[in-house]
Amino acid sequence: MNPTKDLRHFLELLKKNGDLLSIDTEVDSRFEISEFLRQFDKERGPALLFEKVKGHSIRIAGNLIGTRKRLALAFGLPDEEKLLETYQRRRARKIEPRRVRTGPVKQVVIKEKRRVDLTALPIPIYHEGDGGPYITCGIATAKDPASGLRSMGLHRLQIKGKTRMGIHLSNPPISRFAANAEKSGKPLDIAISLGVHPVILLASIVSSPSEDKVGIASSLLGSPIHLVRCETVDAEAPAHAEVVIEGKILPNVREMEGPFGETSGYYFSDNSHVIEVTAITRRKDPIIQALHPTVSEVSLLGGPAGEAEMIQMLRARGFAVQDLAISQSSNRTHVAISLHKNHESDPRQLLHYLLSGVPYIKHAVVVDDDVNVHDAEDVDWAIATRFQGDQDLVVIPDLKARAIDPSKKEGNFMTKVGLDATAPLRLRERFKRISIPSRVREKVARTIRKLAGKEAQLMGRTKR
Ligand SMILES: Cc1cc2nc3c(=O)[nH]c(=O)nc-3n(C[C@H](O)[C@H](O)[C@H](O)COP(=O)(O)O)c2cc1C
Repeated sequence: MNPTKDLRHFLELLKKNGDLLSIDTEVDSRFEISEFLRQFDKERGPALLFEKVKGHSIRIAGNLIGTRKRLALAFGLPDEEKLLETYQRRRARKIEPRRVRTGPVKQVVIKEKRRVDLTALPIPIYHEGDGGPYITCGIATAKDPASGLRSMGLHRLQIKGKTRMGIHLSNPPISRFAANAEKSGKPLDIAISLGVHPVILLASIVSSPSEDKVGIASSLLGSPIHLVRCETVDAEAPAHAEVVIEGKILPNVREMEGPFGETSGYYFSDNSHVIEVTAITRRKDPIIQALHPTVSEVSLLGGPAGEAEMIQMLRARGFAVQDLAISQSSNRTHVAISLHKNHESDPRQLLHYLLSGVPYIKHAVVVDDDVNVHDAEDVDWAIATRFQGDQDLVVIPDLKARAIDPSKKEGNFMTKVGLDATAPLRLRERFKRISIPSRVREKVARTIRKLAGKEAQLMGRTKR
């Protein structure tokens, strides 16, 4: 990896763009940081750097990818216009991570058991019902003991003591690696990185259980991520991370973990795995990242990347997908797809393929290619006028639920639903949209712009 492509490099870039606010008033990691993040996000405000966290000397950054513009910036783009295209192009070009001997994350190495202390890190408490401080932005890297595949994932971690954390493992690949280790009664060696470039964070939540997501991150960044070996466990971590926590997921141990106010907007507790921490390595003056579970950053990290991944998956299967949009407020569960339909069965086949193939999508709607899927009102219009509940509904019961879905059924099942809101091919004429000749539309728009300009001039004059 280009050594400057780390969290600090991105913070510098934000600062240069006037999109980073440093807060030097003292803030409490108990609720206050969380509420700053939420209130600034509501106003679509800048990214935040908390310089003084009560009782700690370590700084905290948050709301980094709070807007599409900042997401584009993480990809080195001036704006979002070419984001999808850039994502798809880079994703297709495989770049392998590179092993290096050392890196900034080894500036301080703490591996004597009595000196390892998780409680010395400023880990926020986000909501009043939370069971304690939670690492929400810890990227877990590990190796599958069965296949040797290395990969990563984002998993919530509850601080339970100086060397003990609860880790919520419901999704592959890390959940599968832990299960494979447990089968032979062994712990899973793991590294948790805090404070990395946002593209590494974004890659950690890409849904691709059999690929190395560190490789995906390298491809998306356009250069190999540098990895260092851990000190006390058989795992690797980004050399330019701010902090790395090394440890072992204990086999056959489960403990109550939570409650934690989740991305769903509800508290959720579980009987979860436990990590025994063996070392902490870090920079001299680390900055760690806080990810508030319900701010825009969560949907922006998963949204555009998830859209690009699904478009690719559906096109590879032969569906003539024109566009696809995940609804921002649905916590990555709702998606709309516009399709150029060649056969009457296309939407249903697409819905079955998508709903059973993408674990996090619960509800999907397919519309014709004259509908703008990024405009919720247009999609609503298509459902209102091109959908009949008794013939256009696809219901797939009893698929594996998302752990955090409070409406999931007994035994962790959920029902997925698809809507075919496309017009029948043989009735194209009846479903033709009303329209105006495009030259008239453009002419009137030009005139309106001119009139608006005149009005603004007039207003300016009267003000003076
Ligand atoms: C904000 C956020 C938090 C997450 N927290 C967890 C978690 O605590 N446990 C878990 O198993 N997966 C969690 N995930 C999902 C995993 O990181 C997962 O590897 C990734 O989303 C892959 O998608 P898949 O489950 O569809 O394969 C989280 C995802 C996001 C976006």
